[in-house]
Amino acid sequence: MNGIPRRYHAAVWDQPLIMEQGGPGRRGTVPPAPIETAVDALPEGVRRTTPLALPEVAEPDVLRHYLRLSQQTMGMIGISLFGTCTMKYNPRVGELLAARDQLAEIHPHQDDASVQGLLEIVHEFDLMLRELSGMGRFIFQAGGGAAAAYVHACVTRAYHESRGELERRRDVITTAQAHPCNPATAAAAGFNVITLPVERDGYPSLDALRAVVGDRTAALMINNPDDMGIYNPHIKEWVDVVHEAGGLCFYDHANFNGVMGRIRAAELGFDACMFMLHKTFGAPKGGGGPAVGAYGCTPELEPFLPGPLVVRTDAGYERRENAGGVGRVREFLGNLPQVVKAYAWTLAMGADGIREAADISVLANNYMETRLLAIPGVTKSFDHLTARRLEMTRYSLGEYTEETGVTAVDIQNRMTDYGVDAFWLSHEPWIVPEPFTPEAGEGWSKEDIDYWIDVLAHVMEEGRADPELVRSAPHNQVVAQIDTASLDDPARWATTWRAYRRKNEREVTA
Ligand SMILES: Cc1ncc(COP(=O)(O)O)c(C=O)c1O
Repeated sequence: MNGIPRRYHAAVWDQPLIMEQGGPGRRGTVPPAPIETAVDALPEGVRRTTPLALPEVAEPDVLRHYLRLSQQTMGMIGISLFGTCTMKYNPRVGELLAARDQLAEIHPHQDDASVQGLLEIVHEFDLMLRELSGMGRFIFQAGGGAAAAYVHACVTRAYHESRGELERRRDVITTAQAHPCNPATAAAAGFNVITLPVERDGYPSLDALRAVVGDRTAALMINNPDDMGIYNPHIKEWVDVVHEAGGLCFYDHANFNGVMGRIRAAELGFDACMFMLHKTFGAPKGGGGPAVGAYGCTPELEPFLPGPLVVRTDAGYERRENAGGVGRVREFLGNLPQVVKAYAWTLAMGADGIREAADISVLANNYMETRLLAIPGVTKSFDHLTARRLEMTRYSLGEYTEETGVTAVDIQNRMTDYGVDAFWLSHEPWIVPEPFTPEAGEGWSKEDIDYWIDVLAHVMEEGRADPELVRSAPHNQVVAQIDTASLDDPARWATTWRAYRRKNEREVTA
């Protein structure tokens, strides 16, 4: 790198919540008065008797508020080599498309005839994902990858119940390096979870799988490559073993970036898979709610899908309930603006572009790997394996931590002081000591990747020279270190204004 990393300091605004701003009568826009006849047509029981509890804020206040928030969060255009998430750049044109009146003004209760264009996009995008996976149908109701895994757990339950085998088939098998949402959603759906430990090759052996598969097996839930970037080459045999025992196989395709257009889940024998539109298809990040986990399955499992399904008829497109399905996992058809963004990304890329993006993400990762392993103190997980990692590699700072006392979390905190986004370590369990897993993806330039690596190298040197500087980081961010215990305490977090008020009031009266 030329010189030290760029100087950076976040703007600190101590910004109040938008709900706490403004005052009576302040306005940004004044909507036209309601049409009296339309109001009269509303049944008495559905008319509001009190005004909506919305903040009354003038346009400059609104602009200033969101500009300030973006200044506190690197404007969402920091270098975001997000770990174990196969993130990519979110093209801004997607936002323009989603903000168009034709989409933004649509109401989910409009009749099918008035939303034919949108239903066509949902159907066409479903066809594209079928092409990429070989599955029979996709739905977009789940609000993230974990929610799509939950759809699978519910579909598994319904499938075995329909065959009179649910009481016996209690086990869902996964591996220690599958994403935790796989065991978690299986458990939430009432299954017993069997987690196979990782062995010498970086994944559990086929023998370990055979030892736990049997007539109690309900499903295998797995991602491949796993979150260390290791591809299990025996995956087809795994699927065969589970199928022979009567279980279903679910492919968590969160790590799809390196294999897009190169492998198809159905050809490996899987019964179902999920894609994250916010990780692979250019829609913005946002697991667990504001995103989309696209869930696809073979025709055999289609009767169990949550409805409504979008179907094409001679008369056009329609939403149709799925009578035997597992019921809604979310309202309506899901977050359709994200589907439109992902559809636009897929159309713009085309089949060749998608394959090329997969190749570039693998190339970028391997370029990054070569440079990272040249930094003293960085080692690679399972470094005896000679096969190249795909779109990501898990590294370890274990030796460095022993040398300096500075941990991977400390290094991550300090890197944000140079304008680099967190989080790029690893989810639990930490099989590798002090793990980290940056993902170069296909969306980042060589300069960005180099900057990230240079910052890491610089911060590791800082940690050798002045461990306390790194341990007490971040110093240039909006907030310094926070006590993350609050994240595990539902009494202290709130995802809506109403919940925030309710919880704070409880604190006051407690
Ligand atoms: C392999 C894998 N599966 C599932 C998930 C969960 O996805 P989401 O965050 O959209 O719920 C992740 C998220 O990081 C992941 O890496």
